[in-house]
Amino acid sequence: MGKSILDYETVELRDEENAIRIIDQTLLPGETKLIDLKTGKEFWNAIYLLQVRGAPAIGVFAGFALYLLVKEAPLPLPDTKENYSENFNVLKAVLQEQKEYLNSSRPTAVNLSWALERMEGKFLSFESEEGRTIADVRSSLKTEAMTIKAEDIEVSTRIGEYGLTLVKKGDGLLTHCNAGQLATIKYGTATAPMYLGFQRGYDFRIYCDETRPLLQGARLTAYELASAGMDVTLECDNMSASLMKTGAVNAVFVGCDRVAANGDAANKIGTSLLALAAQHYHVPFYVCAPTSTIDRNLKSGSEIPIEQRKPEEVTEMWYAKRMAPEGIRVYNPAFDVTDHDLITGIVTEYGIARAPYTASLGEIFARREANPLCVTPRA
Ligand code: MRU
Repeated sequence: MGKSILDYETVELRDEENAIRIIDQTLLPGETKLIDLKTGKEFWNAIYLLQVRGAPAIGVFAGFALYLLVKEAPLPLPDTKENYSENFNVLKAVLQEQKEYLNSSRPTAVNLSWALERMEGKFLSFESEEGRTIADVRSSLKTEAMTIKAEDIEVSTRIGEYGLTLVKKGDGLLTHCNAGQLATIKYGTATAPMYLGFQRGYDFRIYCDETRPLLQGARLTAYELASAGMDVTLECDNMSASLMKTGAVNAVFVGCDRVAANGDAANKIGTSLLALAAQHYHVPFYVCAPTSTIDRNLKSGSEIPIEQRKPEEVTEMWYAKRMAPEGIRVYNPAFDVTDHDLITGIVTEYGIARAPYTASLGEIFARREANPLCVTPRA
C-alpha cells in the first residue's frame, strides 16, 4: 500500500541539514511535496503563505526555526567558557531580532508568540550561567523545541480522550477549517476525538465545511480524514445550517487560534456563523484548545488581533477565471471570534472548561501548574 498523507510529518527538524522539513500544504491534496526550509526569510514566508499552518503546527515550526537561527548565527569569538558572556550577548541580539521577525508573520494564532517566548525564556535562563559554552545553550534550545513538538502529540491525544466523552457511537460530527493532523503533529485538536473514536469503532459520520476562502476544510480536513478511512461528507460553509436542521449533526468540534480569558475564541472565518446556527438548532458546540492557545492576558475576544488577507483569495484564487468584478472592494478577515456564550465547552488537555469561562479556564491552568506535561523530546 502507498504512503498516506498521515504517514508524513507535519513539521520535522532535519538538524544535520540545518533545515525544517514540512509538507507544503498549499499544494494539497493534489501534490504531496516536502520542502526543506533554512533561512529566516523562508521560515517567515512558510508561515505567511500557509505552507505550514494551524496554530499548534505554527508553534512547533517557530520553535525549530528559532533554534536553527541561533545555531547558525556566527559567534564573534571561539566558543570557550572565557568568551561565554560576549558570545551570549551577540546571540541574544540575534534571537530577539529573529523572534520579532517571525512573530510578525501571522498575528492571530497565539501559539506563534507562545513558542517564540518559550524559546527566548529557555535562552535567557542561561544568561548568567558562567562556566558554560554556547554549545550547551544551543543544545538546550534544541531540546526545548523538540519538547514543544512532543508535548503537542500528548496534548492532542488528551483532547481527543476528553472530546470522546462528549459524543456517542454513530454520531454526526461537523468541523470547520482544518484543526487536524496537518495543523498539529498528530490527531489534530478538533479531529482528535474523531481519530480516537474511529480507532475504537465509533462509526462517526463526519461533515467538513469547505472553509472559504482558502478551502482548508476541502483540501486538508476532508483529505486527511478520508485518507484515514473515515466516513466523510464535504459541504460548502453556507450549507451547515440546513444540514443541522435535518438533525444529522450531533455535535460541532472546531479548533481555535486564540482563546481570551472570558472564553471568546478566535478561529477560522465562518466559525462564529457555525456557532450561531448550532445554538439555534440546539447542537452542542465545542472548541478544542490546547492551553498554549489560551491567552489569559486578553480579557475578551475584542482584543484578539485578526489577520486580514489579500482580496485575490476571494476574487480569483481557485477559479479558472476571476469571478468578481475588477476593482471590487473585498472584506477578507482570516478569522472571527465566537462569543463565549455560544460555546458549550472548551476542550483542553487538562479537561473541559464550561461557562463561566474566566473561572473554569483558571482551574484548567491551575491543573496544568500542578501537573505539567512530562514527555520525551522528538525531532
Ligand atoms: O489559516 P489557518 O489555516 O492557519 O487556520 C487554521 C485554523 O483556523 C485552525 O482551526 C486553528 O489554527 C486550530 S488548528 C488545531
